[in-house]
Amino acid sequence: MRDPWWKSAVGYQVYPRSFCDSNGDGLGDIPGITARLDHLADLGIGVIWLSPVYRSPMADNGYDISDYQGIAPEFGTLADFDRLLAEAKARGIGIVMDLVVNHSSDEHDWFQSARQGRDAPYRDFYIWRDPAPDGGPPNDLQSFFGGPAWDYDAASGQYYFHLFHAKQPDLNWNNPALRQAVWQMMRWWLDRGVAGFRMDVIDLIGKDPDRGIAADGPKLFAHLAEMDAQVLAGRDVLTVGEAWSASLDNAGRYCGRDGALSMVFQFSHVTAGWDPVFGKWKARTRDLVGLKRVFNAWQIALADEGWNALFWSNHDLPRAVSKYGDDGPAWRVRSAKALATVLHLMKGTPWIYQGEEIGMTNTHVGRIEDVDDVEVHGQWPDMSARGLCEQDFLAGVNANGRDNARTPMQWSAAPGAGFTSATPWLALNPNHATINADADRADPDGVFAHYQRLVALRKTHPIIVHGHFVPLAEDDPNVWAYVRELDGQRLTMVANLTSDPVRFTLPEAGIVAGACLIHTRAPRTRLKGEIDLAPWEAVAVLGQA
Ligand code: NOJ
Repeated sequence: MRDPWWKSAVGYQVYPRSFCDSNGDGLGDIPGITARLDHLADLGIGVIWLSPVYRSPMADNGYDISDYQGIAPEFGTLADFDRLLAEAKARGIGIVMDLVVNHSSDEHDWFQSARQGRDAPYRDFYIWRDPAPDGGPPNDLQSFFGGPAWDYDAASGQYYFHLFHAKQPDLNWNNPALRQAVWQMMRWWLDRGVAGFRMDVIDLIGKDPDRGIAADGPKLFAHLAEMDAQVLAGRDVLTVGEAWSASLDNAGRYCGRDGALSMVFQFSHVTAGWDPVFGKWKARTRDLVGLKRVFNAWQIALADEGWNALFWSNHDLPRAVSKYGDDGPAWRVRSAKALATVLHLMKGTPWIYQGEEIGMTNTHVGRIEDVDDVEVHGQWPDMSARGLCEQDFLAGVNANGRDNARTPMQWSAAPGAGFTSATPWLALNPNHATINADADRADPDGVFAHYQRLVALRKTHPIIVHGHFVPLAEDDPNVWAYVRELDGQRLTMVANLTSDPVRFTLPEAGIVAGACLIHTRAPRTRLKGEIDLAPWEAVAVLGQA
């Protein structure tokens, strides 16, 4: 059987609001993305994950959809979308849509109807419950954006359920009519020519709120099997489920032999770095050994069945180079390249988040009022009530908050960073004067050129796509090292992930001599014994096993 195309492709996430503004209103839009497609074609990516462009009141920047088959006017029209699709296709790039069906917007016609009363036709598209005997919420399930997951609807005297913002009511997946409506909508987009779906918080659709279960509910895999039978089967598409609760134990059920999906975005490497009490809101220093262990475990668990989605960042996470690298002037470029090397030579499909390919960094806010993200404003009262002081919370926001990834794409040193001619919807990172695509792409040793090489290597070297993965020196606190092997070949990757020089002793299983595939400092053609690695030096050598 031929390998699916997405195994050797590299994905790229576009967050439309912040990618490129074509009409001078300070907001990115679809024609802006089309105008910048050559940047992505030059990078060599095969597929774009397009964050939501649907009609939406934008309470959560488009993850609150009021019309699943309509485009938000601020982003353009359906004709603009079709043009983007065609222009991307002409460059060999597919578009994966964001499927946000755990919840809709409260401004969706379904919810507007459901709100009309207990007997309204679409009432059962959502989750309604009577108040608890004391009149309060039916139970104490909490929203991920802070506060109770239930909101009272005075008109009908019932509560509706929302795992995110109150403007994002959860859809009732137990209702077969709702599921049919979702299948119909998915078919409509696929028939239009999209390459697949990234499925927002898909691990929540099997929920059982009455038993206090949000993630990994009893019906989750039955719903996915039905989706497969009704929509996906027989179509050559890429499906990637966002599943914060996916574990080594159940990942195979999503993307193994009988799973409905191509791969899952799982977050163990992200949550491994969170505080046990305050989660991401309390900044912690990087634990490299812990991080390696998580990646290694996933590489091994999905070695023969299932497929990894590899990523450092997305629109909900901090910038890769700030979180895991060193974003100061001395090592920003080299550490961004080292991180890319480590991730892109693993087994799985790598995903680049916009701006990562030019080494964009976190931004900084001095006051909570200056944050755009709805999650921060919802969580601050909860965290404060649990005892986190404002200063610590702000440090957490600056380390891990979602605005970091959402500042506009830095294309040039121009006043609007080449993103807009107006005032951008979210403040530009002030470093755009020096960190931008024009400057980075002009440098043959820049971050972009390095990503280009990594993407190209995956296309030409089956060992990167299929090679058996063996971790090396798991307990080393400074160096990330592993081996890939295929058909008598060996690829050894060694990376110093610190800003200091280190001496590393390569275990025998990694010894290799041959060709240097890629490096961040200077080529090496042999890796053996004691190796002196410069700060953020990463190197990969391909030879005989
Ligand atoms: C996950 C999305 O990535 C995030 O941005 C959004 O806020 C929630 N799901 C709710 O849709």
